[in-house]
Amino acid sequence: MRLLPVLEGLHSAEAFNPGFLRAFLERTRALEAGPAEFQDALAGRVIATVFEEPSTRTRLSFESAALRLGAGVISVADPKTSSAVKGESLRDTARIVSGYSDLIVWRHPRDGASRLAAQAAQVPVINGGDGRIGHPTQTLLDLYTLYREWGDLAGRTVGLMGDLRNGRTARSLAWGLALLEARVLQLPAPGLAWEASFEQRIADRAGYALRHVRHPLFRTWTGEETARVLEPRLATQGWLFGDGVPLLERLDALYLTRLQEERGAAPRDGVYPGLRPAHLADPLLEQCLLLHPLPRRQELPEELDEDPRARYFEQARNGVLARQALYLAMLRAERWPLPELTPLPAGHPDAELGVCPNPNCITRAEGIPVPWRVAGKVQRLFLCAYCDALLPVDYAGCRSTLRLHPLHSPSVARIHPENLRPFRAREAAQRQGYTWSEA
Ligand code: NCD
Repeated sequence: MRLLPVLEGLHSAEAFNPGFLRAFLERTRALEAGPAEFQDALAGRVIATVFEEPSTRTRLSFESAALRLGAGVISVADPKTSSAVKGESLRDTARIVSGYSDLIVWRHPRDGASRLAAQAAQVPVINGGDGRIGHPTQTLLDLYTLYREWGDLAGRTVGLMGDLRNGRTARSLAWGLALLEARVLQLPAPGLAWEASFEQRIADRAGYALRHVRHPLFRTWTGEETARVLEPRLATQGWLFGDGVPLLERLDALYLTRLQEERGAAPRDGVYPGLRPAHLADPLLEQCLLLHPLPRRQELPEELDEDPRARYFEQARNGVLARQALYLAMLRAERWPLPELTPLPAGHPDAELGVCPNPNCITRAEGIPVPWRVAGKVQRLFLCAYCDALLPVDYAGCRSTLRLHPLHSPSVARIHPENLRPFRAREAAQRQGYTWSEA
């Protein structure tokens, strides 16, 4: 079976692993402590920033980071000035820009754009935000902001609040927190929670389980007194014998996010969670750091800016340091190596699956049939290899035994992921020599 090429660069926070993240945070600290040591690290290199969506912080901090390491910068800052308006495909643009630069930072409104750009580019691509699904470098600076305060993040509880469904910063941060063993409390606006398959992927990868906790403030924010928390499975076991839903006594950080209106988001009944000065007097938030990727709206009033728990301006400042550390890793500056990322499994092109079910997927804009990849351990999931959308697949075949099973049968979890093959219809599998097995 043909495979898509393994991707160079950083496209999704799913590619992080604990070894990479810990070494990354230490390297960022070294950059903060002694910037002089790094000032010529990338002399003679050219970084391209291609931003096909508005940005202030992300683009400027990427460019500042490049200049502070001695690299030069070329830039498409306004999508109206790039050839995309003349109908050039993302793949063509990626190939062209990679002839002019050693690394490309790309922001794009379509889900999965960074992965597609990386396949066409001959240099590493860093995702500067793609559609609704990923903003992994925002995660790096978010984690660094927490690491500066706490050192180890393990055992801390971090609440993610707002438009979780359409906001890429919270999605990416959830991976980072889980890989560093922090608890992920979900405080979504009504109707804007993550889909179950996203929660399941994180739980499977990090060895996490889902629990519920309660607090009266949650009702003020989300309309519900209980909230979902992803946490290490071992921690959950200790709770099994308790009665009812436990009260959350302490929140270590709260990550607020705005409503993603430009992505068509609207909260149910117009209710959107935000922080009010009175909330900060609650013992739950006594030690709680306040983070926000910015830009903010009403969810984070300016009156809170002088509160000693506010960290969002510092967070934005940390963007330069985190992006410097990432360039060093991506451009393999020999003196400062970092552990490898865990690349996403390569996708399998498969004309039988048709088009991606996600209308905002980059494959829909570029007219490509959906390639699939496997995720999940306890329960296998077939996802679009570009945008991670769950594919409408009901059957899974084993390529070594040529047996076909219902997707959710226990046998499927035992098949090695490399041997799995998705089918939408039994007849299609049978035409290819698979025999049906109920189990
Ligand atoms: C975020 C983004 O672009 O996803 N902004 C940023 O990079 N700091 C958050 C947002 O736009 O809401």
